[in-house]
Amino acid sequence: MKTILTGIRSNSVLTLGNYLGALLPMVRLANEHSKDFKVNIFVPDLHSIISEVDGDLRENTIRTLKYWLAAGLNLNENVHIYRQSYVPAHSELCWILNCTATMGETSRMIQYKEKSKGQESCNVGIFDYPILMAADILLYDAEYIPLGEDQFQHIELTRNIAMRFNNKFGEVFTVPVKTSDQVKFMEVDTAIRIRDLLNPEKKMSKSTVAEGSKIMLDDTPEKAAKKIMSATTDSLGKVKFDMFNQPGISNLLQIEALVTDVPLSEVTAKWNGETRYGELKKKVAESVSSMLKDFQTRLAEISDDEVYKLLEEGEKYANELANAKLLEVQKAVGLR
Ligand code: TRP
Repeated sequence: MKTILTGIRSNSVLTLGNYLGALLPMVRLANEHSKDFKVNIFVPDLHSIISEVDGDLRENTIRTLKYWLAAGLNLNENVHIYRQSYVPAHSELCWILNCTATMGETSRMIQYKEKSKGQESCNVGIFDYPILMAADILLYDAEYIPLGEDQFQHIELTRNIAMRFNNKFGEVFTVPVKTSDQVKFMEVDTAIRIRDLLNPEKKMSKSTVAEGSKIMLDDTPEKAAKKIMSATTDSLGKVKFDMFNQPGISNLLQIEALVTDVPLSEVTAKWNGETRYGELKKKVAESVSSMLKDFQTRLAEISDDEVYKLLEEGEKYANELANAKLLEVQKAVGLR
């Protein structure tokens, strides 16, 4: 059975953009394939500490796992959840891979360049981030790693590291599929980017200071509705899906489609030509607030105990697999 593996960092509460653009598509993919694939969902908590964490990391981690469950992740014997730092083989393999990766290829990573830009002293973890990520993937022979476009470069790096290792030490790792084929497998438009409500040219981001720019998953439904009603639109006065000329309106159509699970083409056809933007906003505000209400109700029903129980099972499973692969690697390089 092939493996699908993915993770979301838990540095803070997620935005509606993270939910609609990342979490929900991943949950759908996992549910769709949970009979014919192994599905590993984990929280990369070691990746979290490369930068400041809002609040308590352990609590954030449990909350992020609850998000997965509240978003509808179906668990069965093929689907497992775990925390990266509870599987020490991740760090151990990271070190071994460090000794095969080059400064050149790691320095080329866009995320590293962006995160280190303007920092007087950038921590080594920011630089090493993709190598730990490669370890996360290669330990489980994962072939499919559903992620957004901004992470594609890391997947390509993982492939290169795996191929180089296999050439030198023998066939130890399964090489993940190319990002172009990952996209086909996901069957979702990875270009989906929920935009900032006030500045729709930009992506909705949790780090934006202006409250009205973003909807957080813990916003009350009323607050979220107000933010939609105050979203920036344009002065063209006619609804059309056109991200370039009408990014605000297009963003609202996109949100409506994702929140109500109706194809974008249908939503667009329905609203096309509408001249009263207020009507569209009202509908989207209702859809978003009712989605949030349902989501928050489901979230409140999941207890910490339930999550810890799933983690106990998931981490036992993950440690068994990861330790077996690590031993193979240690033997290949001559440590065992
Ligand atoms: N880099 C991913 C992100 O920022 C998180 C992550 C870390 C990850 N390791 C991973 C995702 C391994 C998939 C597989 O979203």
